Amino acid sequence: PVDEHGDIWIFGYGSLIWKADFPFLERRRAFIKGWERRFWQGSHDHRGTPEAPGRVVTLTRAEGAICHGMAYRINEATLAPLDHREKNGYLREITPLHFADGVKAQGLVYMATEDNPAFLGPAPIEAMARHIHEAVGPSGPNRDYLINLAQALRELNVEDAHIFALEAQLARL
Ligand code: BEZ
Repeated sequence: PVDEHGDIWIFGYGSLIWKADFPFLERRRAFIKGWERRFWQGSHDHRGTPEAPGRVVTLTRAEGAICHGMAYRINEATLAPLDHREKNGYLREITPLHFADGVKAQGLVYMATEDNPAFLGPAPIEAMARHIHEAVGPSGPNRDYLINLAQALRELNVEDAHIFALEAQLARL
């Protein structure tokens, strides 16, 4: 989905919402349809280790759902380092992006599906919160990832029951 200037929109629904440590040309909130954010992907390299993986978000198909996030317009050259950073089971997909003003664009999004070795899948909220409470990786505590994501979604006025239930459960630990 490269435009005539060699630019690409990339859609972030996890750490990319609050942390964009790459050069971008424009940043706009956006949403995608038919996907839900879930803490179902294992993190061996950022918020956990191979022995004790953390839990981070991926997307799962859900009819009628909307996943809000942040879109970045980047130059094609920025993609290779991003691809490298976002490995650990994530694949790049092309998906329609919707902006608040009704404009649409094609975007890239990193998704980790259940057929990747790091996939953890669903678990009870209490178990996931405890897991996140305990895991730590090279990017820092897994807790901070959840807290930062919940805070970033609140600032965008995004209602996300899964994330806020996990955050509330984490606060009890
Ligand atoms: C995201 O924020 O969209 C994201 C970040 C890292 C890996 C995959 C997705």
